[in-house]
Amino acid sequence: MTDIDWIESSLELLAPHADRLGGLVYPRFFVHFPEAETLFGGGELGKSTQESMIVPLLMGLKDIADGKTYMLTIERWLEDHREYGVTLPMYSVMLDSLLLGMREAVGDLWTTEMDGAWQEVLARLLLLVEGVYAEWQVDSCPQ
Ligand code: HEM
Repeated sequence: MTDIDWIESSLELLAPHADRLGGLVYPRFFVHFPEAETLFGGGELGKSTQESMIVPLLMGLKDIADGKTYMLTIERWLEDHREYGVTLPMYSVMLDSLLLGMREAVGDLWTTEMDGAWQEVLARLLLLVEGVYAEWQVDSCPQ
């Protein structure tokens, strides 16, 4: 099986746990960035924004695993997020939290191959994110 096969089979295993994935991801993220909770806005609206981010994030990661990298889309969501107050160090922590949450949701059915495939794709996204931030810094350098 290839990495994309492992990603797909892990997503199938995750599907029945979709409802509780947010609850396994965000508390881990907020331990590192408690201030980020307020960026989502409080209460139920904040919670629903958090929940609604997970599926597009997983789908974007699946696209990257599939070899489809939509740089324009990535740049747009990074720009939007910068405006929400999201900072570069938050991305690696969010991606680590996502992996830990997926492992916990799937439990004993999670395999080392799935883990390796996800680690690879998460690292790829992080490189892309860091690349965009590096370009932003170049763009904002005084000439
Ligand atoms: C920590 C504070 C964060 C806040 C307040 C926040 C807020 C939001 C909001 C309001 C949306 C929906 C509107 C939009 O697409 O812009 C969203 C979508 C999304 N967020 Fe976040 N976010 C945060 C962090 C992150 C991080 C660290 C990641 C990545 C690891 C992430 C990945 C995404 C993705 C992939 C989408 C979907 C974008 C799309 O469909 O175009 N977010 N977020």
